[in-house]
Amino acid sequence: MKTNRRDFVKMGTVAGMGIAGIALTGSEAFGQKKDKTTASAKHDPNIVRVGFIGLGGRGSGHVHDSITVGGIEVVAICDINQEAIDNVQKIIAKNGMKAAKAYTGSDHSYEDMVKNEELDAVIIATPWEWHVPMAVASMKAGVPYTGVEVSAANTIEECWDLVNVHEQTGNQVMIMENVCYRRDVMAILNMVRTNQFGELIHCRCGYEHDLRGVKFDVETNTLKIGKEAHSEAQWRGLHAVKRNGDLYPTHGLGPIGVYLDINRGNRFLTISAMATKARGLSKFIDDHVAKDHPYHNINFNLGDIVTSMIKCANGETIIVTHDTNLPRPYSLGFRVQGTNGLWKGEGGGEWQDAGEQIYVEGKSKPHVWDKAEDWLKKYDHQYWREKGEKATGAGHGGMDFIMLNDFYDAVRNKKPVPLDAYDAAAWSAVSALSEMSVARGGALVDFPDFTRGQWIKRQPGFGKDLQFPTDPERDFINTLF
Ligand SMILES: NC(=O)c1ccc[n+]([C@@H]2O[C@H](COP(=O)([O-])OP(=O)(O)OC[C@H]3O[C@@H](n4cnc5c(N)ncnc54)[C@H](O)[C@@H]3O)[C@@H](O)[C@H]2O)c1
Repeated sequence: MKTNRRDFVKMGTVAGMGIAGIALTGSEAFGQKKDKTTASAKHDPNIVRVGFIGLGGRGSGHVHDSITVGGIEVVAICDINQEAIDNVQKIIAKNGMKAAKAYTGSDHSYEDMVKNEELDAVIIATPWEWHVPMAVASMKAGVPYTGVEVSAANTIEECWDLVNVHEQTGNQVMIMENVCYRRDVMAILNMVRTNQFGELIHCRCGYEHDLRGVKFDVETNTLKIGKEAHSEAQWRGLHAVKRNGDLYPTHGLGPIGVYLDINRGNRFLTISAMATKARGLSKFIDDHVAKDHPYHNINFNLGDIVTSMIKCANGETIIVTHDTNLPRPYSLGFRVQGTNGLWKGEGGGEWQDAGEQIYVEGKSKPHVWDKAEDWLKKYDHQYWREKGEKATGAGHGGMDFIMLNDFYDAVRNKKPVPLDAYDAAAWSAVSALSEMSVARGGALVDFPDFTRGQWIKRQPGFGKDLQFPTDPERDFINTLF
């Protein structure tokens, strides 16, 4: 699938690209790629040819859910672990599809995959430190659409790499932030866009998830971490040894970023973050292994609770919480508050979730919370009304299906991705910026403007829903640009 010059100009207008005088040269300049196979001429343009890098818990789920979405062919898969490859080949075979070409054998086998294969899209679900090198290689190899798991980037340099390579190649990168597609989160988007809460003033969110059993493999009377362990315990727990900041901000901040039109009329300006002492992971070791076990020598740097406060250009504040080392039920701790009311989404996002409450002045009984269910049903998003039944059974209550469907819709129709390089950079930057702020005792740190000034003009595009009118005041202001 190729992106022609007109498509690129269209994408550039929407995404606000090409304003920094970046030279676009060579065959990659307009999101084009070289023909890699002669078979490409016979390819059905309605079928998206996908390559998957990283086939662990998340990547294998993406393969399964992508097949359920339909209209795709799994052309190639890549992992350093043969078991993971075999497992995914089984998923492909079970669905009656042809085996994918497997790339393995080295940490850099993915480079051969993106260079050799004719791919319309690549999906990356590897440990965090591989996200940006892989996304950059994919875009540079001419793959027009790359989806990258969360968080997209670990450092400010990596955030800029995503933006710069996207602008230089014209190829798209989407941050696969599935919570933006959660059913209640999308219903609240409809409520925000139809002005039910008035002008937004303050938001809260976070990642409040007891990950002790993910950072360690828990076995009878012992634990494993790092090379001795499996899956995320191989790598995720090690970040808690070295780093101290909000290491996983985007599940909360993605939806809030969409509500607040971040990078599209608004932007994050500054952040201040503080971390508590670190006790949870050491106590977990104390509770599981003998007193003389070498794991007692591990000193964790990551504070058990990291709280960041962000100030936005349009005057809102956001409190973001990272809470992954202590015993607790799951929550993303949402609060979206405006001049006319608020949503409080404390729980896991199920329809009947007791944690979800809404108050809308003039509609709710004065000073009394409404249970959110009726509101959420009334404002159910078009994506869910149309696809909700099919999504049932896919990952994370169906939101993974809705997200992948939106991603492949962009690929198939050569549209800008709904959550783009600028979103990936701004949301993921919270990790590195909060680490800087924590290290300086909560000092205020500036966000880079990854859009290079284009945030003023860029228009909201995520989850456009035709049934509900958008905010007339904002629509009027948009006509002025
Ligand atoms: N959005 C969500 O809800 C969600 C849920 C879980 C995980 N994630 C994210 O997905 C990513 C993967 O998480 P996971 O739980 O699947 O981890 P995992 O450890 O189970 O899987 C990672 C896979 O990547 C492979 N890998 C590592 N280095 C590689 C390389 N150089 N080349 C090819 N393959 C390589 C590993 O062998 C493994 O199979 C992480 O970024 C994580 O944060 C997101």
